[in-house]
Amino acid sequence: MYDLWSLFGLRESPFFQDTLAPGSPYPTELFVGRKAESDRILRHVASSPSSRQVLHGPPGIGKTTLAQHAKGLLWEENHIVRWRSIAVVAGQRAPALLVDILASVHEAVLTARPALSKEEPMEAARGLIRSFRQTSGGGGISVLGSGAQASTQTHYVRPVEAGVLQEAWRLLLEIVNLACGKREADGVVVHLNNIENLTSSDSMEEAARTFRDIRDLFLVPGLHWLVVGTSDETLGILGSYPQVRSIFLPSHPPLAPLSADDFLGLLHARYAFLVEKKNREIVVPVEDEAAVAVYTLFRGDLRGALRTLEQGCLSLAGLTEGEPVRPLRYDEILATLRPVYEAEMLADLSATMIERMREIAETHGDGVTQGDLKEAWDVTPQRVSQVVGQLERRGYLSQVGLDGRAKVYALTGTGRIALGLTRSAG
Ligand SMILES: Nc1ncnc2c1ncn2[C@@H]1O[C@H](COP(=O)(O)OP(=O)(O)OP(=O)(O)O)[C@@H](O)[C@H]1O
Ligand SMILES: [Mg+2]
Repeated sequence: MYDLWSLFGLRESPFFQDTLAPGSPYPTELFVGRKAESDRILRHVASSPSSRQVLHGPPGIGKTTLAQHAKGLLWEENHIVRWRSIAVVAGQRAPALLVDILASVHEAVLTARPALSKEEPMEAARGLIRSFRQTSGGGGISVLGSGAQASTQTHYVRPVEAGVLQEAWRLLLEIVNLACGKREADGVVVHLNNIENLTSSDSMEEAARTFRDIRDLFLVPGLHWLVVGTSDETLGILGSYPQVRSIFLPSHPPLAPLSADDFLGLLHARYAFLVEKKNREIVVPVEDEAAVAVYTLFRGDLRGALRTLEQGCLSLAGLTEGEPVRPLRYDEILATLRPVYEAEMLADLSATMIERMREIAETHGDGVTQGDLKEAWDVTPQRVSQVVGQLERRGYLSQVGLDGRAKVYALTGTGRIALGLTRSAG
């Protein structure tokens, strides 16, 4: 097969969007920057026998990867970690989440201390996880709960669920004691990822309740929690109940974007790692200035910037044939992607929505609040929030900051490319 990346001397795409993990194709050595943030996470863990930290920020900024990096450092300091995070699932209730946590801790301990495999709580945990997942249809999603008819009024735990809760809880405590007793390990790190998923199928209230139901678990000595998600949802879930808020918040400030220099560092680390043959010269697929300009367009959204660079290279693949390969320029990348992103936008949004979006970009380029938009458009607050909500869900608008307590929004890189508003960053 014609392989684009090998033209550049690379084994595969340097613009992959996966998180880093040992044993995966993308090792944690590719991590750059964020020294202050990772130091702070480690200090927190070291300061007490149980800790809870919230890593939050806008989509694609590098939250999950920071947690992965921190786990790597903690692992070197004799903590037990599991590389795969616990992916929180939409609508998940306390029993299902607790079983997922038990499964994660079990697997982490099994990997780090195989000798403990035959101990009673480890065997019992395997039994419980298996039977829970079989009866609840697998995938860790509970259908035992009040499920589809869930009402925010009535909330009761069925006896079968109460049993699961109690038993899973007991096993967790015993496994943590086994692993951390006699100074075996310093602690077990539990990484809950994308907790915003909890809110996507129903109310924030249900999601908050799930956390309240297992609140005491977060205080168990030997367990260190890294809870990761997008800012609004995460702070909403953890902030709703005082008993949860008081143990989680305040935590870290929202994760700030990597600097442009770090972004270049990230790319060059990937180029070096993915070199096809040792000592072979590579050609960087995009000019450094182009990479920085694309990154600027995406305001810290690493995933968005990487995706755009990747798509740019892929669409221009055939075009440099015959010519010697050379790095792509910013204007070339945008000229190729603009029609693609525009077509997607036309399929996604009505003409009115696109007009609204263009207005936001042209008149409020630096950011705008819903209050400003209500004034400018002379419509109801409900209408503004509908428009903003839709543009945000489709990935054309995102929150870029706060003005007092009001959220400030601006177009995403995808939105600006689709509208052809990309000159300012060039
Ligand atoms: N500090 C870093 N060093 C090197 N690569 C990074 C760093 N931070 C993030 N990345 C890379 O950027 C991409 C996006 O990062 P990540 O998935 O961690 O973002 P996120 O904030 O968790 O996104 P989402 O909101 O979608 O969950 C990944 O490919 C990741 O490998
Ligand atoms: Mg993530």
